[in-house]
Amino acid sequence: MFQLGNAQSGTTGTSNATMRGMPLDPMTIQAPSREPADTKIVFELEDVAISYGANVAISGVNLQVPENQITALIGPSGCGKSTLLRSLNRMNDLIPTASLTGSVHYHGADLYAATVDPVEVRRRIGMVFQKPNPFPKSIFDNVAYGPRILGTKNKKVLGELVERALTRAALWDEVKNKLKTSGLALSGGQQQRLCIARALAVEPDALLMDEPCSALDPIATARIEELMFELRESITIVIVTHNMQQAARASDKTAFITTDVGADEHRSGRLVEFEETQVLFTTPKDERTEAYITGRFG
Ligand SMILES: Nc1ncnc2c1ncn2[C@@H]1O[C@H](COP(=O)(O)OP(=O)(O)OP(=O)(O)O)[C@@H](O)[C@H]1O
Ligand SMILES: [Mg+2]
Repeated sequence: MFQLGNAQSGTTGTSNATMRGMPLDPMTIQAPSREPADTKIVFELEDVAISYGANVAISGVNLQVPENQITALIGPSGCGKSTLLRSLNRMNDLIPTASLTGSVHYHGADLYAATVDPVEVRRRIGMVFQKPNPFPKSIFDNVAYGPRILGTKNKKVLGELVERALTRAALWDEVKNKLKTSGLALSGGQQQRLCIARALAVEPDALLMDEPCSALDPIATARIEELMFELRESITIVIVTHNMQQAARASDKTAFITTDVGADEHRSGRLVEFEETQVLFTTPKDERTEAYITGRFG
């Protein structure tokens, strides 16, 4: 059984130089930090490399994702953002050629230990994809799907769970009078919120979002971003986005990943910079980050 709250879970993961007593570069802009010294780390990646067969998609990733914050993964197409995101809830296990080296710890426990049940991992760490993918079922049954699999049969309890999840996903008011309608009959933005509600219905601890707004208009996007801020109070979010403005306004920390071309011409993703979002977007340390965020590359 996978345990949360392991004894090692209190690790601090700050990159703030002042907290380590180091002198500050006078050029460094100090962003207001959401990261107090006792911030817990939810995901800790050490030297992670992920391959498909013999092809290394991304390598050398060291990353600490803080609890109750929004961490954005940005970078050019093909650099390995989705691959990295999927490694956080063992979704890559479903791809037969995928393999991972290095370590991924979740609340201090090895996510890839032989004793860990990947199905339980995916319940605790939910996922929302780029293209909304409601099941061809009613709105109610979409949201009740997870709790039913987990054994909830009582109609009243299910009804309460569905209402709570739809409310948290900011969709309840729009659908409460048509819960028996097909999820596929909703608009794109509503379908994406339905998928978020479906993920929330099993009370996950973390939510992985892979370009959740790329198919949505600015109003639907704004709703999802608002929703992320509300959810951040209780869960940890990692989001992949191609939208610089979205990363800049809707995340606490940002990781910039790019594609390196090795001597053998093999292309592989590398994590270039991981910083508080405001710092990364105002004073990037690496020229590749600067080129990307200013639109000169990618
Ligand atoms: N299932 C797979 N089998 C083989 N190779 C894959 C698979 N999924 C991804 N890759 C390869 O891994 C690399 C990283 O892909 P990934 O989808 O993680 O990139 P990404 O940064 O999410 O790109 P995008 O921004 O276009 O979504 C690419 O070279 C891609 O071709
Ligand atoms: Mg992707």
